[in-house]
Amino acid sequence: MPDAGAPLPPPAVLRARIEDVLDAALPDAAREPARLHAAMRHAVLGGGKRMRALLAYATGHACGAPLDALDDAAAAVELVHAYSLVHDDLPAMDDDALRRGKPTVHVAFDEATAILAGDALQSLAFERLAAAPLPADARVAMLRELAVAAGSAGMCGGQALDIGATGTRMPLLDLETMHALKTGALLRAAVRLGALAAGAGDAERGALDRYADALGLAFQVRDDLLDVEGDSATLGKTAGKDEAQAKATFPALIGVAASRERLLALAAEMEAALAPLGDRGDALARLARQVVERDH
Ligand code: IPE
Ligand code: IPE
Ligand code: MG
Ligand code: MG
Ligand code: MG
Repeated sequence: MPDAGAPLPPPAVLRARIEDVLDAALPDAAREPARLHAAMRHAVLGGGKRMRALLAYATGHACGAPLDALDDAAAAVELVHAYSLVHDDLPAMDDDALRRGKPTVHVAFDEATAILAGDALQSLAFERLAAAPLPADARVAMLRELAVAAGSAGMCGGQALDIGATGTRMPLLDLETMHALKTGALLRAAVRLGALAAGAGDAERGALDRYADALGLAFQVRDDLLDVEGDSATLGKTAGKDEAQAKATFPALIGVAASRERLLALAAEMEAALAPLGDRGDALARLARQVVERDH
């Protein structure tokens, strides 16, 4: 474990690292079918905050793993996330033309290519996990974790609830469940994959789960607020879409002020969850603040 005792590099360095890992994992754009491969690269490279990769690195590092042991976990969760965005933007779902400051995949390419690019990114994520330089039992646990988080009990289930809820007014508890699934599940998987890659113990994993659950909900509450308060240039995606499409969101249901208050309560929950980790939780605490304060 050459760098296990070293401090965690700053986010900018980790973002450059995951960009290189993803670039190397993705098929070359010239390789046939070239249109599909170009679409996959368009979806993944050159944009995004890389929050899920940062969470996997920070968690794994806090639990004693070297960065080399975490690259595949970080890449896999970013690949599933990128796939979820490609499909989320499709005309059949949110019908968005702008993502990460660029045309969405179905606009830059075509719908069939966007569907296939999403499918292939998901497959690539599992291929990376299967090839991670870790013991077989850790790899199996990570594969299962990501599969559950991405599936009908996780992200896809949340997206189905989102589509079903559009134009309706749902109880707050149902909205929280929807957010926990559509967005929280993958963020939680990022944390859990980091912990599994590091071979973390049960006590650490309990604290990390509490942190991740609050972070997942906070992330989508902030996303909902940014859709109301942000501008498209800063967001890199079209602001004001949720209201225009009558989406079920926190601001729509409880208002902007109460949504902000909820965010602050979730920030306190994250801080409390990290307390048992002491100094080892510092990088995760910084990521929590970023989630709550982010402007894009
Ligand atoms: C956007 O996620 C979609 C949600 C789950 C709210 P991010 O805000 O993490 O998107 P990128 O990766 O930075 O583009
Ligand atoms: C997206 O939620 C969640 C997933 C992609 C799974 P949103 O639809 O609110 O995300 P944005 O605002 O388009 O990024
Ligand atoms: Mg959506
Ligand atoms: Mg959307
Ligand atoms: Mg949104």
